[in-house]
Formats: sequence, C-alpha cells, structure tokens
Amino acid sequence: MRNLIIPLLVCIACAVVVSITAVTVRTEQIANVENEKRNKIISAAGIEITEDKVENEFKKITTLYVDFRSNEFVSVEAKYDHLKAVLKSDLSEIVPKDKDIAILKRRENVGPIYVWANENKEVERVVLPIRGYGLWGTLYGYLSLGSDLNSVNGIEFYDHKETPGLGGEVVNEDWKAIWKGKLIYNQDGGVELRVVKGAAKDEYQIDGLSGATLTSNGVSNMINYWLGDEAYGPALKKIKEHIKNS
Ligand SMILES: Cc1cc2nc3c(=O)[nH]c(=O)nc-3n(C[C@H](O)[C@H](O)[C@H](O)COP(=O)(O)O)c2cc1C
Repeated sequence: MRNLIIPLLVCIACAVVVSITAVTVRTEQIANVENEKRNKIISAAGIEITEDKVENEFKKITTLYVDFRSNEFVSVEAKYDHLKAVLKSDLSEIVPKDKDIAILKRRENVGPIYVWANENKEVERVVLPIRGYGLWGTLYGYLSLGSDLNSVNGIEFYDHKETPGLGGEVVNEDWKAIWKGKLIYNQDGGVELRVVKGAAKDEYQIDGLSGATLTSNGVSNMINYWLGDEAYGPALKKIKEHIKNS
C-alpha cells in the first residue's frame, strides 16, 4: 500500500502542475493573439508600430458597430468579439450560397469599424476586418481606407493557411505596399478593386501573386464581399454622407 501512495502523490502533484501551466499559458496565448490583432489593425492603418505606440494609437480609435442586416450603427457590449459571434446562431446567420463569394458559410450580424478621427472630429482613416477563403483555408486580415473612404491605406493578414512562397506571399511587404492608394469603388458605387493575374493595369487593380491565382482570387472575393452591399458597403456610404454634410 505504502509503495503505491508515493507514486500516486507524485502523479497528483504532476497533474496539478501541468493543469496550472496549461491554464496560465492559455491565458497568455489569448492575450498574444489579441495583441497581434491590435498590431495588425495599427499596421493596416499605415502607422509604424512601436511598443508604446500600440496602446496610444488604440486610445485614438473609435469603434463603430454596424448591423449588417439593417445597416444601422448599433451599440454592443464592450467585450463583443465579432469572430466569436460567428459561432453563435443568435449572433450570426448563414450566408446564402449565391451571395457567399468569400466562402464564409456564416457571417456575424454585427461588425466593427475602427475609426481614426483628428481633434476636429474629421475621419482620417478607417480599418475594417476582412476574411475569406483562399486555397487552403480562410485568410483573416484588415483593410484600411483613407479619409475619402475609397482609397486603400493598407492591408494586413494576421492568419492564413496558404503556402509559403505562393499564396503565403499575401504577407510580403512589397506586395502589401502595392495596395496603398488603390481605389475601391467605381463611378456607379460598385466594388471594382481586385487582384488580377499578372501586372495591374489601372488604379483598381493589384498585381496577382505569381503561381497563386487561387489565393489572389480569394483576396479579390473577400474585398468584394466585405466592401460590398452585403457587409460594410452601406455603412461606409453613410459615413461618407455624414462627412460630406458636416
Ligand atoms: C504544394 C502546392 C501548394 C500550392 N499552394 C498554393 C497557394 O497557396 N495558393 C495558390 O493560389 N496556389 C497554390 N498552388 C498552385 C495552385 O494549385 C494553382 O496551380 C495556382 O493557384 C495557379 O496559379 P497561376 O495561374 O498563377 O500559376 C499550390 C500548388 C501546389 C502543388
């Protein structure tokens, strides 16, 4: 009996240590993921990241929430997480197949718009979360628009499953730099910006990623979906109207 007690106690002690470590590491992991997202939001906005800057820049952001079903701005709980909302049937809905160009399957009912405004309350830039399927999985990122809400300020991806050197080039600094200043909406208000195969020929086009047309198409599709009428398009129009009238 005595021979069993000591190994048993050692086992219990080990289990306790492993559990505590797992919980601590998990909390740290969640904090790191959140931090990484905040860095990418700042970076997409074209602001250079330094340790103290992230906190300060985040204080300047006003987060508006838009209900994609009504296109109304709504208030939500401070801890609202739009990605987690996708998993809850009362906070998200199935995207009809004919509209699901970004292959989302489900879309949260409410999405955030991160707005930078100056002291005179003039909008300087906005950042929108975007996501959509590439070749191997969903790419998650942010797109930033300038004060005209039509030109691109920057793009960042914080999670994807594309192949390094092919679709994984979505995170290539040179490729991301091409996006700056490109235009999104055409004269009729439709989303015109897209990633083309080969070299861009006008201000609505982004050079395709070579050997990665499927990822490139995925990026075009997610831009089309999130900037279009089914998602942020109507809310951006409202903000533009507001800017024009103020
Ligand atoms: C192992 C492997 C990984 C690939 N990874 C990607 C990828 O991440 N993104 C992509 O668009 N195409 C990828 N492709 C290539 C696609 O199958 C397809 O050939 C390509 O998208 C076509 O692009 P292109 O017309 O520019 O050559 C991969 C192919 C192989 C064999």
